[in-house]
Amino acid sequence: MTLVDALSVIPVGGPSLPQERRLVTAIPGPKSQELGRRKIEAVSAGVGVTLPAYIVAAGGGVLVDVDGNFLIDLGSGIAVTGIGNSAPEVVAAVAAQLAQFTHTCFTVTPYDSYIEVAEMLNRLTPGDHAKRSALFNSGAEAVENAVKIARHYTGKQAVVAFDHAYHGRTTLTMGLTAKNQPYKNGFGPFAAEIYRAPMSYPYRDAGLDGVGAARRAISQIEKQVGADNLAALIIEPIQGEGGFIVPAPGFLPTLVDWCRANEVVFIADEVQTGFARTGDLFASNHEGIVPDLMVMAKGIAGGLPLSAVTGRAEIMDAPQVGGIGGTYGGNPLACAAALATMRSYETENLAQRAREIGAILTERLNAIRAVDKRVGDVRGRGAMIAIELVDPVTGDPDAALTGRVVAAAHAMGVVLLTCGTYGNVIRFLPPLSISDDLLVEGLQVLVSVLAAA
Ligand SMILES: Cc1ncc(COP(=O)(O)O)c(C=O)c1O
Repeated sequence: MTLVDALSVIPVGGPSLPQERRLVTAIPGPKSQELGRRKIEAVSAGVGVTLPAYIVAAGGGVLVDVDGNFLIDLGSGIAVTGIGNSAPEVVAAVAAQLAQFTHTCFTVTPYDSYIEVAEMLNRLTPGDHAKRSALFNSGAEAVENAVKIARHYTGKQAVVAFDHAYHGRTTLTMGLTAKNQPYKNGFGPFAAEIYRAPMSYPYRDAGLDGVGAARRAISQIEKQVGADNLAALIIEPIQGEGGFIVPAPGFLPTLVDWCRANEVVFIADEVQTGFARTGDLFASNHEGIVPDLMVMAKGIAGGLPLSAVTGRAEIMDAPQVGGIGGTYGGNPLACAAALATMRSYETENLAQRAREIGAILTERLNAIRAVDKRVGDVRGRGAMIAIELVDPVTGDPDAALTGRVVAAAHAMGVVLLTCGTYGNVIRFLPPLSISDDLLVEGLQVLVSVLAAA
């Protein structure tokens, strides 16, 4: 009998779960601690865990652990379960597909849901030009393929990524990712022909506006790489792991214009920002930019593994037949989930819900900032908001304080995540299915742990 079997009543996940924070043991409780001991024996030590409460059910805005604790979810499994865990429409769509067939490999004997997902992505992503899509499993895999496609199309090799960027942990995407610890340390050598440019980081940029920051980046690219060698520029419209950095207005459009003028493919990595998270279907829309290629994952399929690259038909059609694909990419279960999920973003107007969540977060976090100078910045868009914790005198990043605050919130049953190059950013990524009451309770916990830290 496993520990999970030993739970007398395992609640069913989904929105019918009681929407409350309920602590019946310390966090992690005894059963989670026992699973933690088994993890050490069975799982690679390189696979870390942020909050070692082992989950048996989730839905709405709560996660239920193996000890019977109900935690407030302010992370969505890193921006994945935007429409909620075990959302009924996803469960129904996947169950129906499960009964039909689980796998053929689209590149062997295809099926229509893959095409339907591609059609939907072609319609939903910015721009009304002819588009094509290709489906993969993870964000990193989609980023790799976007770079491959851009290189093939342009016949050029160099790729520019930005300071604070995060694009994944495969060999190519580690090279694109900026932060050494824990993502890159000891894993080199990295792929060749990757260059880094300075980001627009308004909180730390001392008066540099978006156009000025873009000119600084372009000047560096022209001098150190040369447009003639540059296949693609890849950027997150709002940086995720790097610290929820929203570039100053004008930064992204200036980069897009330069790419267009220089035959450089502009790739928007919307893996974390996509699918209503930022209060619009895609973060690119806030700045009115139309990327040549867009990379998507996370929020696309309600928690099932799926990712995609969508972009200009002439670029996407450049590779030779068989050059793009994989065994599981666009798996039928993931496609069924994606169709149900993407329909929900539209029919339930979840972008509006993300804006409402953002208004609650921003108002309350700014109120904290007004009285606590350790909160140096409040930033983000929609349901993707963060605070940057600093030394109130020097303005230096305070990673130790950040660690204490987040650990104390975890102990009180609130799932909070950190991010940032300097490890001093707390990010809020609640599921869009969270209630206002639960969200506000999570913020009240933050207030109390911050005061005590
Ligand atoms: C912007 C961005 N790109 C790429 C990735 C990599 O996605 P995955 O972890 O699915 O490989 C992430 C993951 O956090 C991300 O935030």
